[in-house]
Amino acid sequence: MAAYGDRSAGADLRPVALRCELQAVPKGLNDLTPRLSWGCEGEASLAASRVVLGRDHDAVASGHGDLWDSGWLPGTPSPLRYAGASLPRDSRLWWAVGLRDGQGAETWSEPAPIFTGLDAADWEAEWIARYFVLPAGREVPQDSAYDNRFQARPADYLRRTFDLPEAPVRAFVHVTALGLYELHLNGARIGQDVMAPGWTDYHIRTEYTVYDVTDHLKAGRNALGAILGEGWYSGRIGHNQRRAGNHYGGRPAFLCQLHLEFADGRTRRIVTDDHWRTRQGPVCYSDFLAGEMYDARLEMLGWDTADFEEINWQPVEVFTPDPVAPQLDAARAPLAREVASLEPQSETRAPDGERIFDFGQNLAGYVSMEVEAPAGTEIRLRHAERLDEEGALYTANLRFAVSEDIYICKGGGPERFTPRFTFHGFQYAGLSASGPLERLTLRAIAIQSDLPRAGQIETGHPMVNQLISNIFWSQRGNFLAVPTDCPQRDERYGWSADAQVFWRTAGYFMDVSAFTEKWLLDMVDGQSAEGVFPDVAPTKPLNPYRLTPQPGAPAWGDAPVILCRDHWLRYGDAGLLRRMWAPLVAWMDYIERENPDGIRTRSVHNNYGDWLSIGPATDRALVATAYWIHLADIMTRLAGVLGEPETRWTELATRLRAAFLDRFWQNGQLSGDTQTAYLLALDFALLPEALRPQAAARLGTLLDAAEGHLQTGFLGVRHLAPVVCDWLGPERAVDLLLKDTYPSWGFSIRHGATTIWERWDGWTPETGFQSTAMNSFNHYAYGAVGEWIWARLAGIDWNAAGPGYRRLTMRPVFDRRIGHVKARYEAATGPVESAWVYDGAAVIWDVSLPPGTRADIALPEGWRRDGQAAFTLEAGRHRLVLRQDG
Ligand code: BGC
Repeated sequence: MAAYGDRSAGADLRPVALRCELQAVPKGLNDLTPRLSWGCEGEASLAASRVVLGRDHDAVASGHGDLWDSGWLPGTPSPLRYAGASLPRDSRLWWAVGLRDGQGAETWSEPAPIFTGLDAADWEAEWIARYFVLPAGREVPQDSAYDNRFQARPADYLRRTFDLPEAPVRAFVHVTALGLYELHLNGARIGQDVMAPGWTDYHIRTEYTVYDVTDHLKAGRNALGAILGEGWYSGRIGHNQRRAGNHYGGRPAFLCQLHLEFADGRTRRIVTDDHWRTRQGPVCYSDFLAGEMYDARLEMLGWDTADFEEINWQPVEVFTPDPVAPQLDAARAPLAREVASLEPQSETRAPDGERIFDFGQNLAGYVSMEVEAPAGTEIRLRHAERLDEEGALYTANLRFAVSEDIYICKGGGPERFTPRFTFHGFQYAGLSASGPLERLTLRAIAIQSDLPRAGQIETGHPMVNQLISNIFWSQRGNFLAVPTDCPQRDERYGWSADAQVFWRTAGYFMDVSAFTEKWLLDMVDGQSAEGVFPDVAPTKPLNPYRLTPQPGAPAWGDAPVILCRDHWLRYGDAGLLRRMWAPLVAWMDYIERENPDGIRTRSVHNNYGDWLSIGPATDRALVATAYWIHLADIMTRLAGVLGEPETRWTELATRLRAAFLDRFWQNGQLSGDTQTAYLLALDFALLPEALRPQAAARLGTLLDAAEGHLQTGFLGVRHLAPVVCDWLGPERAVDLLLKDTYPSWGFSIRHGATTIWERWDGWTPETGFQSTAMNSFNHYAYGAVGEWIWARLAGIDWNAAGPGYRRLTMRPVFDRRIGHVKARYEAATGPVESAWVYDGAAVIWDVSLPPGTRADIALPEGWRRDGQAAFTLEAGRHRLVLRQDG
């Protein structure tokens, strides 16, 4: 499984998944007292842990750290805050974790690197860009190749050369952009990151990363270069056609600082400044929504090498970004990478002759092509998630996104094209060419923020396995720099309710800890002076004309509170909570100030309610107030963790519950009488205990009336399986999971879904495609059922008594229709395994818990182990043979 570090031989215990500031390899630190965390694997008892951190790899490997030695600490005190000598900047340091078992045997992890990065004062590089206005007297290039109907900019190529008397012994480059960059050094592309540096509010901050490029430099002349694209900075994002692009600025800019150290201790820096030169090349334009056009005849072979002859290269412009230069922060989360490559599964023809390739999987990324054709042959690649009835690409749901890549061949042999600064949401590619192609190979490349994989799960039911895969691929397609709603149409925003309902699911599939911290900062950057969190983040300055999303809808603006709770329970790390506390309180103050009577109806902005539900709509005031109460409960918990007074929040929750009961519970029903109303009321414990069975019974009646079908939207869906399971019984929850008639998850799978659809009725046999105005086939919100699959079907759940999986709750659901479940989850404390299978009348359940943890077990009703239904399991491997009563 990915991300689990090297293991040394010897004792049975092994430290795994080392993280510094939540990342496997931090490329720069924003906090010089970083949090260090790790998990443990093995079966021996864990007595003590120790962290060493130092400059020298080999010393750290042998358990000696010149900067810090924590000494042996009892148990496994992860996460642990660094408490050693002040950390040097601009360094690569190493750290390792040692574990000692009950017998005194020790095991050490391999040393893991930390790049400490730069302080604000270390930056001397200047922002450079292609000149905007040509100074008088300069030659004007006649570049009609770059004219296009989108008025999208060609990519800028930048370079400079420098001479070195000898090869350096160390070279680190610190790099970022306003826009997107690809870094090159002496003919090689540096790093494998794509869409770097990702998306932040560039008027506030941009994130840099660090690469070790020592091996790329040589004595003599060297060339450092970059290709710059528009990306989120100046390219098209969102759906506002009155302001499609240029959200942050009119042209991308580049910033980089190369630090060289020579054997005798001398140092030298190469920085972006007016020594750099620029030119436009084969990338005629490259835009997220329009696509990329690449004219290979304009390639400048060797443009990134030292001997290249600069013809028609112009001086760059050094400037201060408008309105202010952004703060330079180290990347808080892994950058995006290419994570999968898929071959086409079939090729067909559309009625107009377009060649249609089906990659078998809806994804976010691009097509990489190898082709041979005469110079000037123009190849067009269009992208779509679905085909229409005639077998042509269905692109109406992309709205204003064009999603077409155009490649013009240079001829003379095989050539390869992979777009750089665009991505599409697609399963199908349509190819047409202006002339015959000699040979053609296509591959679909999926990209995503490179988060470590956390869990793998498999069941005995093929449709459930497909659902799990669909959830995973929707997460993969939408975790790109920020958590987006969808990757294909002219939207691709970080919608906050989508994220909040999905977050618990997301954390099972991938390590989302760093990604959470990064995106919560985007939410805080977008918080208004009044305390209002945005509906999408990053948000500013996407909203200048109030045409794009408004801030502060209930369940949308509420996301940070919920994510903080999830983060705490999943990772047991209070660092983020401490930083988020004041912004969370400001948001809670705002809601309370606006709604003194305890019913949340005022200043609810775009109150979207239970978005995209089917059947009767849920009362929006009920949903909003339900969420408010839920937030008050979470704030009580978080206050407890942080040692803040809790009474304000407990009192608020009590007052709101009374108002809720008074306003929304009438004649034994909740107002609106919808599935979602009861789901929220039961999951958030909004009603007095005595009324809950009545509410559950009503939910059962509503489900029966819908012939066992769900009717929930984005907000209700998360609570569906958990509440039905707890209140109406696991069998009914499994019924819902296995339904394949409309509306259900199974319905979409029966009709070919390989990702989660935005709408239950995205396509139906009776009506075909839903409205072109809003119909994505890759929207993870309804995938929120994943948390129940993990927490209940597999039985791997967190436990508030031991956050960060020091303690687990295991309440598995056994169901013959599912047959078996086999799950492994890399928890913060180490790998957890749960696998159950029917064996005649018995169930055999194998559980493995990491060292230092324990689990509270509650067997499904009627099941016993040695006569017991509830018990505790200690760390280690267990085989449980379980039987039913009677
Ligand atoms: C997005 C959603 C989002 C919603 C707000 C849509 O356009 O795609 O996922 O949450 O707007 O209601």
